[in-house]
Amino acid sequence: MAFYFDEPSRTFNEYLLVPGHTPADCVPAAVSLKTPLVKYRKGQEECPLTLNVPMVSAIMAAVSDDKMAVALATEGGLSFIYGNQSIEDEAAMVARVKDYKAGFVTSDANLSPEMTLADVVELHEKFGHSTMPVTADGSAHGKLLGIVTERDYRLSRMSLDERVADFMTPREKLVVAQDGTTLKVANDIIWDHKLNSLPIVDANDCLVALVFRKDYDSHKSNPDEMLDAHKRYMVGAGINSRDYAERVPALVNAGADVLCIDSSEGYSDWQKLTIQWVREHYGDAVKIGAGNVVDAEGFRFLAEAGADFVKIGIGGGSICITRETKGIGRGQATATIEVAKARDEYFRETGIYVPICSDGGIVYDHHISLALAMGADFVMLGRYFARFDESPSAKVMVNGTYMKEYWGEGSARARNWGRYDLGGKKSLSFEEGVDSYVPYAGSLKDNMAITLLKLKSTMCNCGALTIPEFQDKAKLTLVSATSIVEGGAHDVLLKDKAPYASNTR
Ligand code: XMP
Repeated sequence: MAFYFDEPSRTFNEYLLVPGHTPADCVPAAVSLKTPLVKYRKGQEECPLTLNVPMVSAIMAAVSDDKMAVALATEGGLSFIYGNQSIEDEAAMVARVKDYKAGFVTSDANLSPEMTLADVVELHEKFGHSTMPVTADGSAHGKLLGIVTERDYRLSRMSLDERVADFMTPREKLVVAQDGTTLKVANDIIWDHKLNSLPIVDANDCLVALVFRKDYDSHKSNPDEMLDAHKRYMVGAGINSRDYAERVPALVNAGADVLCIDSSEGYSDWQKLTIQWVREHYGDAVKIGAGNVVDAEGFRFLAEAGADFVKIGIGGGSICITRETKGIGRGQATATIEVAKARDEYFRETGIYVPICSDGGIVYDHHISLALAMGADFVMLGRYFARFDESPSAKVMVNGTYMKEYWGEGSARARNWGRYDLGGKKSLSFEEGVDSYVPYAGSLKDNMAITLLKLKSTMCNCGALTIPEFQDKAKLTLVSATSIVEGGAHDVLLKDKAPYASNTR
């Protein structure tokens, strides 16, 4: 006989937090957002991998590439590089994050000496950079021959056919620094010589990177950075339960700090086999999350299979249509609450705390607070991050407004059938996601600053200085449809719609 859940499953929008007592020392500046990412014996040992802020970016081609990973790790979160690409390409993205040295920029607009002023203008328009290195072969790591900045040419006086070699500032006039120079020393050289940029070269005088004056200052103001023991940015990577025997070693060798099996439905033997394979080959040295599940049974299955964390959510994502196409899923709030109870029960029984991640369905900033209050240790977001400069998708103008493209991994555009594969014949497949636009929102740093301030402020209203304390003290209440209306501006004529047009309110 079928089993019935006799209560309707609910979404974040159906809940609010009732404030608790706020002690005088409970202020946003004193709040810590640290939270465990992987399992550990809570109370007996330190969690081996902790997030500094409880936000990770979705395993999606429209969201998590190496650029996003660097930006998010800088703010204290973590990206999971998307797995729906070749093993080599995914490993290369991971390696780029691990090799990234804050302030050391690999030049993407490069010239060769035979190129012309017309090429300079074209590159300037394409990349917006005013500093372009000239290398023998025009590559980012070729032999350095000179540099072109806006001070080297005057469009009104020169022919567009003029060769770069004839107007660049040549190598012998450049101040450069050797590979291995620290950012602090590079910055001192920049200041001592009144430079705007400093090329870093290797022993063969080939270009390694550029250091710009402004980058050093920004580097200093990121106290939450997610850094590994070697002071490199931390990064996660998505895998699937098909090609893990080849993909996992490549990602581990590239330096991935944590892996996550990416599937729309994780309560399966395929996930168990994937975790077992990782344990057989790497023991506990490689951390691996699994999911997604939406109930206690699914959580226990993955926890017992050895998952380092468990991801929750089916069909709640902004671009998901799994519930419509397959009738599979559960309201994200109910799923999170039930899995959190299962995690606590599992901890009481075994002494092992398996962190849980609420994945998808975060529409407003306060949904993050609700997910954490409901017991999630951290949240995974796709739409939220897709809106920023750092996401890999195109910024386009739609009806006079800037938008970013955002598509589901189950959409025809992504063709990530590995995420939805249940075996069998491959010739037929159907979509479980859509292709869409999301409003462009600017830089990740600025947006996250506001989001995290709201979270800290809510925690203080509930009298909590840490996430575990928040989970412990939070009082959640269901809301009626009419009280949702009461919660927004109502019965007034808004003078300025702008603040309310924000979709993270
Ligand atoms: P948000 O709401 O943050 O959700 O945009 C991101 C999460 O949605 C999941 N995802 C999908 N689910 N069809 C689905 O049913 C899809 O095409 C799809 N693409 C992504 C995924 O869990 C992601 O983290």
